[in-house]
Order: sequence, then C-alpha cells, then structure tokens
Amino acid sequence: MADYKIAPSILSADFARLGEDVSNVLAAGADIVHFDVMDNHYVPNLTFGPMMCKALRDYGVMAPIDVHLMVSPVDSLITEFAKAGATYITFHPGASEHLDRSLQLIKELGCKAGLVLNPAESLEPLQYVMDKLDMILLMSVNPGFGGQKFIPSVLPKIAEVRQLIDASGFDIRLEIDGGVSADNIREIAELGVDTFVAGSAIFNKPDYKQAIDALRSELAK
Ligand code: DX5
Ligand code: ZN
Repeated sequence: MADYKIAPSILSADFARLGEDVSNVLAAGADIVHFDVMDNHYVPNLTFGPMMCKALRDYGVMAPIDVHLMVSPVDSLITEFAKAGATYITFHPGASEHLDRSLQLIKELGCKAGLVLNPAESLEPLQYVMDKLDMILLMSVNPGFGGQKFIPSVLPKIAEVRQLIDASGFDIRLEIDGGVSADNIREIAELGVDTFVAGSAIFNKPDYKQAIDALRSELAK
C-alpha cells in the first residue's frame, strides 16, 4: 500500500481557534497541515499570510505544513513562508514569471517544492522541471473556496501524472486538492494519488478522528 498522507485544509478550520483546531486534527490522526494562502488577486478570496504559519509553529505545531500559494506574484511570499516554517511550498505556474527560478528559490530556502495544476490545466508546466519537484498538486476544484464538488474530469489527469512521476524516477508526492471525501478517496487513490487534502470532509464533521478514520478505512480497502 502507498505511503498515504491525509492533509486537512485549514481553510475549513475554526479561524478563531486555529492553533487549537489544528492541534486537535493532528491528534485525530492527520499527517500534514494544508495551508491555503489566498490573495484576492490570483483567486477571488483572501485568507492569511506567513505570520499565521509562524503562529502555528510558535503554538507548537510540529507537523509538516504544506503551504498552497494561490497568490501572484509568488517569489516574495516564498521567502516569507520559508522563514515562517513552511515544509512544502506549492504554487500555480501561471502565477510565476519564472517557473524554474521560483522552484529553485523554494529549494534554496530548504523547503520542498511543488507545482499546482488547476482542473483545466495541462501537464505542460511539468515538462522541464520534474527534477526540482517534491510534490505535484492536482486541483479537483477551481481554487478559492472550500466545500466545492469534486470535478471528475480530473480523474484521467491523475493517472497521467502518476505515469509521469513513475517514469521520471524522481521521489515526487502526488497530492489531490478539492472535494475529496470518503465517497471518492478510494477511486482517487487507485489512480495513483498518495496525499489527500480534505477540508470540509474533516473540519465540518463533529468528530475529527471518526472523519479521518473513515478516509483511512476507504484507503485500506
Ligand atoms: C481551494 C483550496 C482547497 C480547499 C479544499 O482553493 O486549495 O485546499 O480548501 O477544501 P475541500 O476539501 O472542502 O474541498
Ligand atoms: Zn489547497
């Protein structure tokens, strides 16, 4: 069985008690904190910046923090999030003037680097940078909001990217983001995803452990 990781998206967490809510979801069995950064420019929504990431680290969150930058431009925020304690930093190719330079910047700052492809986006941006990637994040909703429906046309793309990763020989995690739940996680895993972002499927449930166990039991089938 693949090394599956569950990454709750804090976009659906309780912002008024974020440190506590993140600690609770990690205690409930989550592996990675998915940290959605929105600038109301690249996407029509606004969330939080590097100070919130640092606040979680200062609160005692030790788990990997997977910073998903839905911002443009990206480079200045890459530096700030690396300083604030990010583990992974992923960004949308269309938001960076110089893809390879932005990826190099993430690696030089000691973080793991990833690219995010929107649902209708082709694999083309991956072509010349596979050697610099630690993660490929496939959006299964249009970025900007939690609680949206999974877009099924992404399913064949998952299989294509899995093939690309396996053929590359590089150690790259394949992450899915948007509309993931116990109803579809097994089908998504069978196509080759190993890292699952889930916001509303976890934070909107009364019992985080039950919600995460439900996802894991589907993955174990
Ligand atoms: C959307 C974000 C996703 C979202 C996932 O732009 O990137 O991470 O919060 O939320 P759910 O799992 O509720 O679709
Ligand atoms: Zn995200």
